[in-house]
Amino acid sequence: MKNILVTGAAGQIGTELVTSLRQRYGKNAIVIATGRRTQLPAYIKNTGPFSYLNVLDRNQLEELAFENNIDTIYHMASILSAVGEQKPQLAWDINMNGLYNVLEVARTYNISVLWPSSIAVFGPDTPKLNTPNDTILKPTTIYGISKVAGELLAEYYFHKFSVDVRSVRYPGIISSETPPGGGTTDYAVAIYYDAVQKGSYTCFVREDTTLPMIYMPDAIKGLIDLAEADNAQLTHRIFNIGSMSFSAGKLADSIKELIPDFTIQYKPDFRQEIADSWPQSVDDSFARSEWKWDPKYDLPKMTRDMIDRLQKKFNKEENF
Ligand code: SER
Repeated sequence: MKNILVTGAAGQIGTELVTSLRQRYGKNAIVIATGRRTQLPAYIKNTGPFSYLNVLDRNQLEELAFENNIDTIYHMASILSAVGEQKPQLAWDINMNGLYNVLEVARTYNISVLWPSSIAVFGPDTPKLNTPNDTILKPTTIYGISKVAGELLAEYYFHKFSVDVRSVRYPGIISSETPPGGGTTDYAVAIYYDAVQKGSYTCFVREDTTLPMIYMPDAIKGLIDLAEADNAQLTHRIFNIGSMSFSAGKLADSIKELIPDFTIQYKPDFRQEIADSWPQSVDDSFARSEWKWDPKYDLPKMTRDMIDRLQKKFNKEENF
């Protein structure tokens, strides 16, 4: 029997992660969804336990972990890069102290930790193409700085206290269930919503802006595959994972294939500089060899699925 706790369960990744974990483990696991938002989708509330949790409150986290005999924490609560630049103190506080609290509770109760890092750990000095796993980490955003510090802290807890902590560096994540909140890569999600609802989109990065991206089913699968990987096969705790890379213009072209009247204009804002500091593609050979990372979606397949899901979602809402 597994006892899993997910922080940030109302967030972009959290909602789908909770669903996938509950489906995957069924009666063999209790998956406690935690977060600060009470407006959780019914499919989370109706399929298992939910608890209010502020990750900055270590006592509350400890109580939940102890009382429920938690053996694994998926720590997803985080402030993303664009909001982070507007509220750097808040981003540092939640991202660093939240992770610190999780690692401390994990150390005390012998809990495994899965925690997402990000391509935001890289900066302008990092090689931009096929960025290696082990390379220069000098980000220019507070979000990236909190992820680099978090990676170092996670590795410290692994070496010093034998906490089994594992992490993937997510590219921009595209999904149709819960919108992301305040990331630089959010244009790659918003473009689909606006294409389906309005037929046009104003993009906040340039047409040639190219970043690594991943579709949510692959993002979730990657984290769960890493959680289930044999520890003896892992030479790293933190892994690049690649999937697809494309420019904003190519993304728009893939949407036009299915919605020919779709139009896009480009009005770059402060997020352009953040996007320009990140890699265009990553080398994920360690993930592929050590735990068989194998994403299933490319751009055309993802675009078909996103548009299909969003059309169903909004048709359903209109019919209410
Ligand atoms: N998608 C995140 C962001 O844009 C990067 O991890 O902030």
